[in-house]
Amino acid sequence: MDYSNFYSANANLMIPSPIRRMAHLTQKPGIISLAGGYPSIETFPMDIIRQLLEEAYSRRGAASFQYGLTRGNRELIEWLADFMKTRGVMTNPENILLTSGSQQALRLLADVLLSPGDVALVELPSYTGGIAALRNSGAELIGINQVDDGIVTEDLETTVIRLKAQRRRVKLLYTIPSFQNPSGITMSTAKRREVLTIARKHDFVIIEDDPYYELYFGDRPDTPTIKSLDNEGRVIYLSSFSKILTPGLRTAWVCADAGFLPKVEIAKEAADICSSTLDQEIVLGYCRGGHLARHVLNIRSFYYGRRNTLVQALRDSMPAGVTWTEPRGGFFAWVRLPEHIDTEAMLSASVDRGVAYIIGSPFHVNGAGKNTLRLAYSKEGPENLQKGVAILAELVSEWMKSPEARSGR
Ligand SMILES: Cc1ncc(COP(=O)(O)O)c(C=O)c1O
Repeated sequence: MDYSNFYSANANLMIPSPIRRMAHLTQKPGIISLAGGYPSIETFPMDIIRQLLEEAYSRRGAASFQYGLTRGNRELIEWLADFMKTRGVMTNPENILLTSGSQQALRLLADVLLSPGDVALVELPSYTGGIAALRNSGAELIGINQVDDGIVTEDLETTVIRLKAQRRRVKLLYTIPSFQNPSGITMSTAKRREVLTIARKHDFVIIEDDPYYELYFGDRPDTPTIKSLDNEGRVIYLSSFSKILTPGLRTAWVCADAGFLPKVEIAKEAADICSSTLDQEIVLGYCRGGHLARHVLNIRSFYYGRRNTLVQALRDSMPAGVTWTEPRGGFFAWVRLPEHIDTEAMLSASVDRGVAYIIGSPFHVNGAGKNTLRLAYSKEGPENLQKGVAILAELVSEWMKSPEARSGR
């Protein structure tokens, strides 16, 4: 049966993630994958998780498998309300809602905040999952340039003023201010303050997506969360256990205005009734048992080591004319090649030589970024990181020299 005549207007806007579309290329057996931004499976604390699973069952029995509150496990919410202090936010359980990953939060926020024709501002580049969630609501996504210390605030304000003059409604800015996926960029403190000031002045909401907050390298950065600067509930803050525990437990949280969250709760009720009660029990046991604090210490040094290996390999082997970010946390470095090289055209040659990366253009809502690519250092060990970058650097050097290669022939 042909369903194309049955699709909703929203379904017609849905396109598969370009990253998943390329999975057949980037997940070939034996390939060195600098592509997927998954946390390393080696870091998952499986012994403790197994023990917590048994404990949850012996403590609550079959009740751990019952439906739970749409808001989420009350004790975990209370723990998180307290935990938010470590991110500079004094808050209450009424300000927290749990979701099945931050991805669900993004989708629910799009449902609650965006109508077709509204404008959502996003960074150039930005996380493709965030782009998809916001775009599926029929809103128009407009990109704001970033430089080494984050969003170009002048661009942000002039874009808002221009759109207002066109009678367009700018509803929100979606930002990932720390160790951004995909660029690895961290927004400076001054810019965080400016972004909030602009949002207040022009009356739009900020979605601050912060899954990598704990994954800093070296000393704790002094950049405050934007949420901690907000005293009127304008910032909707998202974070997740995916990168600091395991993504399979699908547990994340929203910290937002207490008057706003009931609407998100209604949207969640329609989406999945509640997140997995068992997953939340395990996460609660993990947090309460003091395991999280120890674990993040370990994974910080684990990923710092990998980041250093990747950055050193880039410094050692990339030809002049190629630039990259040297992230202070998170999973990603962002590479910029000379303008004439199309990283999508180059990908199959790279895969043929055994190295996968993610092309940069899908992260740009304005169609730019064809000469950019994202490298993740989270998955591969040091040897493969060195080998993978060396292979890629050799390929890039060839493409910089050969006019035929540039066009993908
Ligand atoms: C910036 C950002 N936001 C949200 C997510 C979604 O994470 P999850 O749904 O697993 O919490 C990711 C995952 O890679 C991400 O990088």
